[in-house]
Amino acid sequence: MDGAGAVAGAAGRRAIARPLRVTIVGAGAMGSLYGGRLADAGHRVLLYARRAEQAAALRERGLTIEELDGRVTTRPVAATADPGEAAAGADLLIVLVKTTDTAAALGPFRGRLGADALLLTLQNGLGNEAAIRAALGEGIDLALGTTAAGALTVGPGRVRHTGAGPTTIGYPDRGVDGRLAAVAAALSAAGLPATATGRIAGAVWAKLLVNAAINPVTALTGLRNGELPETPGLAALLRGIVAEAAAVQRAAAPETVEPGDPFERVLATCAATAANRSSMLQDIAADRPTEIDAINGAIVALGARHGIATPLNAALVALVHGRESSVVSRQSPEGTG
Ligand code: PAF
Repeated sequence: MDGAGAVAGAAGRRAIARPLRVTIVGAGAMGSLYGGRLADAGHRVLLYARRAEQAAALRERGLTIEELDGRVTTRPVAATADPGEAAAGADLLIVLVKTTDTAAALGPFRGRLGADALLLTLQNGLGNEAAIRAALGEGIDLALGTTAAGALTVGPGRVRHTGAGPTTIGYPDRGVDGRLAAVAAALSAAGLPATATGRIAGAVWAKLLVNAAINPVTALTGLRNGELPETPGLAALLRGIVAEAAAVQRAAAPETVEPGDPFERVLATCAATAANRSSMLQDIAADRPTEIDAINGAIVALGARHGIATPLNAALVALVHGRESSVVSRQSPEGTG
């Protein structure tokens, strides 16, 4: 099958031995990396961007990836800003928009997805399932996932692959079936090593704890991930943030707690993605809203519900929102005087 995968229908009842028709919702750095890899592997990939000019530029110039080993590769890519075209006939829609954009990006897909279409969100944070179901309605088939891969937009239609790392996917409401295993196999064959699991909530929480420590502290300091533990005082801060978040997890979702020390996972991620500028630092640097509410904000809200104090996480939420507003005030005419 020339590297392309096979997929089974919604109940695993129908195996389709052909390349997947994949729509990537969100043509940012991570969406472009996933789209480019899957296109290279022979799948029919369509990148969905909300801005028509972005989709047109991708169609005209193709998609360029600066690879981890320094090679630069360009491939033609199909792109659209038309949700009808993006939804039509898609087997798999991979959602890689920021959590702040879920409703705006997916709302236009409502009522347009095929009965057998699978949505896979690889977004950071908690609450993505609810946000996607609110945008699309309850009838959709949804898988959740996490990825440790990193990417950075370096120009229009050009991304840098900044870190290799595993992808984990799973249904929130049932175990692994043939279709999900086929999606994981297709991602792996495309150079995005992926595993399908029946315990995706554990993976989502584990990633949440890593993001809760790394993302706001890099966003506020401007440091790269690998610099955090080396900087005086910051290792202790990371440890404190994770301890609060882990206490909330134990109270709110004890069944999701994975073995091992979550602070060690933070340190391991800092080491594995040492050269990365975290997604939240990229957002602050590009004057975009951050995902702080879906990450530390979600921990604070759940902590309040379960009587767990989260002063460090609450402070980070306030500070990052302050940082976002200072970006806005710098841009306003009053802020320039
Ligand atoms: O959001 C991010 O940047 C990433 O999830 C991670 C793992 C922190 C690496 O930069």
